[in-house]
Amino acid sequence: MVDKKQVKTEISDSRRVPTGIPGFDDLCGGGLLRNRTYLLSGAAGAGKTIFGLQYIYNGITKYGENGLYIATEERPEQVRENVKQFGWDFEALEDEGKLAILDACSTKIGVPSHEKYVDVRPFDMRSMLDQIIAIQEDIDAKRALVDGTTSIGFYLQDPAKIRIELLKLSTTLEILGLTSLLTCEIVDEGTTSRFGVEAFVTEGTVLMHYKQTDNVRTRSIEIFKMRGSNHSQTIHPYEIAANGILVHPKEEVFH
Ligand SMILES: Nc1ncnc2c1ncn2[C@@H]1O[C@H](COP(=O)(O)OP(=O)(O)O)[C@@H](O)[C@H]1O
Ligand SMILES: [Mg+2]
Repeated sequence: MVDKKQVKTEISDSRRVPTGIPGFDDLCGGGLLRNRTYLLSGAAGAGKTIFGLQYIYNGITKYGENGLYIATEERPEQVRENVKQFGWDFEALEDEGKLAILDACSTKIGVPSHEKYVDVRPFDMRSMLDQIIAIQEDIDAKRALVDGTTSIGFYLQDPAKIRIELLKLSTTLEILGLTSLLTCEIVDEGTTSRFGVEAFVTEGTVLMHYKQTDNVRTRSIEIFKMRGSNHSQTIHPYEIAANGILVHPKEEVFH
């Protein structure tokens, strides 16, 4: 006889997109909810880029889901180099057509780019979305990382404009069947976003704390909000180790 409870769990599990980041999925019932967009906020150096890239890398290598990475703050060349220390070979995944990187950084700072996918200059959300749609036709990705919203925000400046443009971005990603992370760099530990509007266009917020106490900085992570999902209400330590980020779901940090 079929156990009804078991069936229910399986149905809800299929809606989950595991990040594959050790310890993190335990905090939110197995992963992110499919086709939704999440904000990943934290101070500079917290580990947002590594977290986001690990999510994309795991998607491809562990779950067979192609990934799209929109790089607005770092040049793809540097990123490919940086992730090698974790044993992640991005170039190979790109060659296999499983990973696409949109260089939305080089043109913004005025340096030439030899990337396959390059965003136009000056920045324009409509053209970025057109690029994303075109890339999606090439690789049919299931996961996206927009790293990040802060530089887009600085370009647009006006919070009302930032909100509407980011809403277009998150909605387009969802329509394209992507489960996405948008990074956001905060300056004040007491806040959850830079311009105060980023969380309005996302279905959840994950906070990465990188806090100084005495002469040490400690890293901790918190699921601040996740619509439609039960999640941990406490703050958990994480570390950046040889293979990337590692969350300790059974330990707690008190701020
Ligand atoms: N191999 C490593 N081992 C431990 N920490 C690392 C390693 N590589 C990078 N880091 C840490 O990660 C930080 C950068 O993480 P990153 O994801 O770029 O931060 P963010 O995007 O939040 O600004 C570095 O400042 C460093 O402290
Ligand atoms: Mg970063």
